[in-house]
Amino acid sequence: MTSAITRNKYLDDNQNRFIEQLMEWLAIPSISTLSEHKDDVRNAADWVRNRLAEIGFPTSRIIATTGHPLVFAEWQVDDRQPALLIYGHYDVQPVDPIEQWNSPPFQPTIRAGNIYCRGASDDKGQIMLVLAALEAWIKVDGALPVNIKILLEGEEEAGGASIAAYVQENPEHLRADAVLICDTHMVRADQPSLVTGLRGVLYTEIAVTGAKTDLHSGSYGGVAPNPIHALCVLISRLKGEDGVIHIPELASAIPAAGAAEKLFWQEDPLHIEKALCTEMGVTELAGEKDYPPLERIGLRPTLEVHGIRGGFTAEGAKTVIPASAVAKISLRLPAGLEPNEVFGWLDKAVQRHMPAGHIVQVTNLHAGKGFYIPPGAPALLAAADALESIYGKTPVFMREGGSIPIASLFNEVLNVPVVLMGFGLPDDTIHAPNEKFSLEQFRKGMKTVADFLGRLTCGQEHAG
Ligand code: BES
Ligand code: MN
Ligand code: MN
Repeated sequence: MTSAITRNKYLDDNQNRFIEQLMEWLAIPSISTLSEHKDDVRNAADWVRNRLAEIGFPTSRIIATTGHPLVFAEWQVDDRQPALLIYGHYDVQPVDPIEQWNSPPFQPTIRAGNIYCRGASDDKGQIMLVLAALEAWIKVDGALPVNIKILLEGEEEAGGASIAAYVQENPEHLRADAVLICDTHMVRADQPSLVTGLRGVLYTEIAVTGAKTDLHSGSYGGVAPNPIHALCVLISRLKGEDGVIHIPELASAIPAAGAAEKLFWQEDPLHIEKALCTEMGVTELAGEKDYPPLERIGLRPTLEVHGIRGGFTAEGAKTVIPASAVAKISLRLPAGLEPNEVFGWLDKAVQRHMPAGHIVQVTNLHAGKGFYIPPGAPALLAAADALESIYGKTPVFMREGGSIPIASLFNEVLNVPVVLMGFGLPDDTIHAPNEKFSLEQFRKGMKTVADFLGRLTCGQEHAG
């Protein structure tokens, strides 16, 4: 008890230093999807490895992969204690549209209690609060309360192929009793939540070709195939205005939810519908009206267009019919579905729905499975208790629409509960301009993680 107070005091007293360190790390533009940032990704890996060594981890190393490196650290403090595997990602999303940032995306800036920078919430800020919690245990109690393994990747935003291979090849090395991931958000600042489910993702590119070359739209308009238009027709056939996806195999593969969860979705006690409208700045929600918003985000599949490339979009007018067009399209899938199998279903639907006179090719860019954990595992309950003790409010268990493909792999390969305890907030605008992380969430988050670690010990408490 006394030791918990001392740890929290240590965390408060050192928060400014933690934030300064975070700012140093955030300034490294570790964008994993852009090859020109390869060295930055590597530098961000080195930075955090050094930090882990400084904190006192006896083992910390960079693991080379065919893609971006993994960072691994381990501290086996006591064979009688359980082991916790902590995962996070040190890569970040690209910054475009850069002109919409109020401060440069890689110049961490504090404004009104938030730290603004790409990666502030997703996921460097959240990794840093975990490191702060670990440091507090080491400095105050002289040792970690449980055995800790840390595995950080630099490819999460690029599909995470390297870590997936590593986890499959090294299950013994990663063996743990539970996994902790701080890479999600809470439902509200005053309402802690734990994530019980994530959707899977299938990210594709659909390329359409029409004529052998661009054509004059006067000479050929009316007789020429138009790949951009055909792509639009295809997309609207794949998902109608009502939000219904027309992939028959998919429709019949959606798993059922439990009665309690359905009731929670229907009753919407947290007024999610209104909150979503406010967050997005819209007056009404899109999508499948027959399902409550939380079900649409947590369980229902969706198909979204990320961008369409082709034709003429520069200044002025140019009367041309493009010869080709490309769309980036992804599907979010409920837990239980195998995205690579869904790819086959999508490909079939595309071939069937594609307007005649075009050649279409669908490419699977990356795929990751969804995740669901029923809210009963002891590690999850320990997380709930930790949140309650710091936030003074009982957390809710909720599914999340985003994806962390490695979460389901940990669950499958290591066969242990995965705790998704994130400290982001819905308005952090991750992946978008002006990403931020709340300093108050950082403060509460590090205390919650420190408290959580203490709850994992078995048998005799560590002295402190
Ligand atoms: N941290 C997010 C996942 C997330 C998003 C959790 C929103 C909670 C709310 C993660 O970094 C992410 O962006 N995942 C990608 C995965 C994809 C690139 C395979 C995603 O969901 O798009
Ligand atoms: Mn993330
Ligand atoms: Mn992300």
